[in-house]
Amino acid sequence: MACIPVVTLCDIRITLWFGDALTRLQAREGPEFLEQLVGLILLIAAVQGIFRFLQRWWIVGVSRRFEIELKQELFDKLCGLPLDFHDKSRSGDIVSRLTADVENVRMLLGPGSMYVLSALVFVPGSLFVLWRISPVVTLAMALPLLGVALAMGFLTPRLHSRSTAVQESLAEISHRALESFSGARVVKGYGLERHESRRFEDASRQNREAQIHFSKARGLMHAAIHLAYDLAFLPVLFVGGWAMIDRSIAVGDLFKFIDLGFKVFWPVIALGWIGGLYPRALASAERIQALLSETSHIQDPPDPVPLDAEGIEGELSLSNVSYRYPGAPGPAVEGVHARVPAKSVLGIVGPTGSGKTTLLNLLGRLCDPNGEVRLDGIPPRQLSLATLRGALAYVPQDSFLFSDTYRANIEFGAEEELTDERLAEFIQAAEMTAETAQFRGGLDQLIGERGVTLSGGQRQRSCIARALARDPKVLILDDALSAVDTETEAQLLQNLRRAGEGRTVVIAAHRLGTVKDADQIIALKNGRVDAQGTHEELLERSDWYRETWDRQRMQKELEDL
Ligand SMILES: Nc1ncnc2c1ncn2[C@@H]1O[C@H](COP(=O)(O)OP(=O)(O)OP(=O)(O)O)[C@@H](O)[C@H]1O
Ligand SMILES: [Mg+2]
Repeated sequence: MACIPVVTLCDIRITLWFGDALTRLQAREGPEFLEQLVGLILLIAAVQGIFRFLQRWWIVGVSRRFEIELKQELFDKLCGLPLDFHDKSRSGDIVSRLTADVENVRMLLGPGSMYVLSALVFVPGSLFVLWRISPVVTLAMALPLLGVALAMGFLTPRLHSRSTAVQESLAEISHRALESFSGARVVKGYGLERHESRRFEDASRQNREAQIHFSKARGLMHAAIHLAYDLAFLPVLFVGGWAMIDRSIAVGDLFKFIDLGFKVFWPVIALGWIGGLYPRALASAERIQALLSETSHIQDPPDPVPLDAEGIEGELSLSNVSYRYPGAPGPAVEGVHARVPAKSVLGIVGPTGSGKTTLLNLLGRLCDPNGEVRLDGIPPRQLSLATLRGALAYVPQDSFLFSDTYRANIEFGAEEELTDERLAEFIQAAEMTAETAQFRGGLDQLIGERGVTLSGGQRQRSCIARALARDPKVLILDDALSAVDTETEAQLLQNLRRAGEGRTVVIAAHRLGTVKDADQIIALKNGRVDAQGTHEELLERSDWYRETWDRQRMQKELEDL
């Protein structure tokens, strides 16, 4: 910022020297002063060049650094926000805060503040020196410029709103394409290629219209600016010309008006542009601020129990646990009591939508329930989130994998690099050894977006390997064996029993066979506990359990036949 006045003063100084030189030349002065002047101008021009470079380099550099820091702060904030925030917000919206909104604020703080300061020094500075030469000609120069600045301030918001429409239509195009391609299986399976093509065409048409609208506005604006640039000096020529004919100003003075007028024109245009940018950047800043002030009700306690994940035994106790999703008419889970001794196995079963996934989410405080879920007898709100989540590993129902190498996906759970032998052990426990051996790139094989190059069952088993790699005290499996055949399931269960030794295992399942050997089973029905006990006890206590067990056993016998 300090460079700006130096640059401005040099700029004005050069014009003044040129003007004076013209006047002296007209008076037929000797050549000595010319030689001196050229040397001086070269020197000042060099100083100006250096400072102009520093000014841009520093201001743009700072604004880029600001941009990166703000993006990181937003990203970290978003990662820390609870699940219900992510459930209710659209990812497209969040991405646009991270990109377009941050860019708007950066433009105002970086280049914007540079142009404003530059104009605030240059315009009054020039007007001051010109006023001392001739107030009348200065007014003749300044008034049209004022009109230009006001017109810019008026036109820029219109241009911006059209450019926003272009951005939105572009976002819609990429959203359409992304959805069609990530849903390629459904699109092809239903033969809906033409339907998708039409939807894409609609989005493209909207984009074309927005682009044309925008180009028209931009074309008009450019034409208007250049017209103003040419015409703004007519009053100077006219009024200044009369003053020259009157001999009240010299030819060099008229040159100063014209040259400084040209130089002042662009900062004035920039001021108008900033005036238009300001409300937009302000709106962006407000949206960013709203996100930054979003508080997570799931936070680290101020003085957590000093324990790390290693010190956890894995005993779980649930007392009167209930949870209602924000905006849902009724609770998804209600009044669950259970005591799960460390290193035992808890099965959770129930019809679809009965609250199994919700109950599992409550264990790792992905949502905060009413009632209490204690780990080793410690209320979860007294444990740091790092300890709590470090002690748990979670295999989600939807088997999410990252578009990265197979190795990176498994190591994701471990938070450290694993030797090939260790990796192989986890892959073996998850019954994936034969399949990974087929990978052309070995363990460094890239798996497609969300793991699309793997089958559903392979994805599930890879998620199990990832969870085992975490070496957790509590292993949580959400219907994690649903996509494998019964034979692989039996083998996996045996492996898990071995891998599960020394850990608490909580396993939700649709197939009762998956949980029948668990130390205790909870059967949920509409979020409430229908029955609780061992397999044998549940056969007696729950009609739903008994009927489902008989049906599934018959099905299996039929399959075996
Ligand atoms: N994010 C959410 N917001 C609002 N309601 C939800 C949300 N997730 C689940 N629900 C509702 O909570 C209830 C329990 O859902 P949950 O996913 O826990 O069932 P589930 O037993 O795991 O079912 P499934 O066997 O199909 O996996 C359902 O009625 C569901 O509609
Ligand atoms: Mg579920």
